Amino acid sequence: MCGIIGYIGPRDISSVLLTGLKRLEYRGYDSAGMTINNPDGLATFKAVGKIMELEKKISGRDLAGNLGIAHTRWATHGEPNEINAHPHLDAKGEVAIVHNGIIENYYALKDFLIKEGFKIVSDTDSEIVAHLIQKFHNGDFSESVAKALELIEGTFGLAIVQKGENKIIAARRGSPLVLGLGEGEMFIASDVSAVLDYTKRIIYLNDDELAIVEKDSYSVKNLKGEEVNKKVHEIKWTLDQIEKKGFKHFMLKEIFEQPEAIINTLRGRIKEGKIKLSLDLNMNSLKRIIIVACGTSWHSALIGKHLLEKIAGVPVEVDYASEFRYRDPLIREGDLVIVISQSGETADTLAALREAKARGAKILGIVNVVGSTISREVDSGIYLHAGPEIGVASTKAFTVQVVDLLLLALFLRQEKGLDLQKDIIRNLETLPEKIREALGQSDSIRELAEKFVNCKNILYLGRGLNFPVALEGALKLKEISYIHAEGYPAAEMKHGPIALIDKDMPALFIATRDNTYEKILSNMEEIKARGGEIIAVVNEDDKKVIGLAGSIIKVPSVSCELTPVVNAIPMQLFAYHVADLRGIDMDKPRNLAKSVTVE
Ligand code: M6R
Repeated sequence: MCGIIGYIGPRDISSVLLTGLKRLEYRGYDSAGMTINNPDGLATFKAVGKIMELEKKISGRDLAGNLGIAHTRWATHGEPNEINAHPHLDAKGEVAIVHNGIIENYYALKDFLIKEGFKIVSDTDSEIVAHLIQKFHNGDFSESVAKALELIEGTFGLAIVQKGENKIIAARRGSPLVLGLGEGEMFIASDVSAVLDYTKRIIYLNDDELAIVEKDSYSVKNLKGEEVNKKVHEIKWTLDQIEKKGFKHFMLKEIFEQPEAIINTLRGRIKEGKIKLSLDLNMNSLKRIIIVACGTSWHSALIGKHLLEKIAGVPVEVDYASEFRYRDPLIREGDLVIVISQSGETADTLAALREAKARGAKILGIVNVVGSTISREVDSGIYLHAGPEIGVASTKAFTVQVVDLLLLALFLRQEKGLDLQKDIIRNLETLPEKIREALGQSDSIRELAEKFVNCKNILYLGRGLNFPVALEGALKLKEISYIHAEGYPAAEMKHGPIALIDKDMPALFIATRDNTYEKILSNMEEIKARGGEIIAVVNEDDKKVIGLAGSIIKVPSVSCELTPVVNAIPMQLFAYHVADLRGIDMDKPRNLAKSVTVE
């Protein structure tokens, strides 16, 4: 996904911009570029591919200047090439912009500009912003930006420089943007990690805000030109937390961080056998919950449905955010909409949130990234406290989401005055230890991965609470190893997919003990009878599955409600090791971005 960094101050401009771009690499990109405002005008450099290619282009040049903007592009309009890479400039080369988001009325604006005599050179929607600003140029930089923005429909995170101006203008609608405050220097970025090398003092811009940033000062206005007071946040995440800590990949580091992440999410939320959540919502009138999310977060939502219905006795519906937003959803009195998102920036989830809000629903967010757009737009929230998740494949966010949904289910039960299930609470407190035990299987899971590294398809099967874990296991494998994998409820096999079973279609069963255990054994028999190879995730002391499965992964026993968390660990490790053995950089799998901020 595209990334933005801007800098104004005394440091070496190109190295600050390059460092910022490198911090944004994990988001995924296909080209990069920068513009430096130097005494001779706007010097712009672009390159397709890695940031190293951009570095090569600027090496050996004298890049004097005290302000500049830079961008990593992930193509949406127009192929990845140098013309389409950002920054984009107006025809006179006086205005340069970098843009994240999508300009929806781009064709209309392009026609309008062409009729006015402007020459558009790229295939992007972004370039028109530079021309519009130039068109409205009247000597007042911020006024011409504001006028241009009035015409734009769609989403933007923008950083803009103008020849001869000692300031950068940033503007946001629907695409994250922050200001980093330094001493005699200022930063603009689409992501806090791009500026953490230099400052931890951050301002989050809201939609329809415009910031005028100079080296010693900043001001933020809304698009009506009214001054807005902004809170300065002190960021606690260190760069060290963000980096790999000796693990080969971020994904592996994040898988191994799960015990710690669970300790952090539980901290202060269980006291003397009671659940403490400070939710600013009236739960007495609660009649129904609708959960919306995407990808892995949608899988945790499916588990949340089981937990909330069983423990709290509240009916729950789960929807893909991308479907919910367009299906004219019915919101009734007593409905609570829960949005789940690791990044807090997923465009579909954000749009679903806004749709639900517009229809009168109260919104509860379950989000990891503090200060993200979703976290700021919800009525109340539960932060995951899982720490930064950099690997594109979501791992620790998933298990922590499930833990927080369980906490919420217990909390709602407590609010109803029903007795709390003490054994679940005890199990929650020992969960980090159980996760450590499951992580101890990493080496034997790698051996198993060696056996399946060349397979073309795998079926993931589970039932009940562990059906969404099968979906999540299949998603993990396909997104990082490029092996086709599908998750199914095990009993659905006989209604069609069983036709696929032969010696080349292994089936991975989640077969830990719960109320569907005996049924799963019969489903395994059905596969075995058709020559299918079985991999099974079982409890350490399991006796029955051993005779049926060719390969076994053992996990510790936990109470039924927590099995999805423990069973997710071998799913993640298996996918990781298969991808690593196939030589794939699973932190940045092809065609994927960490945070999907476009529709
Ligand atoms: O940040 P979010 O939780 O809103 O992201 C949702 C999905 O884009 C995300 O879970 C995606 O499916 C991951 N690649 C899964 O590993």
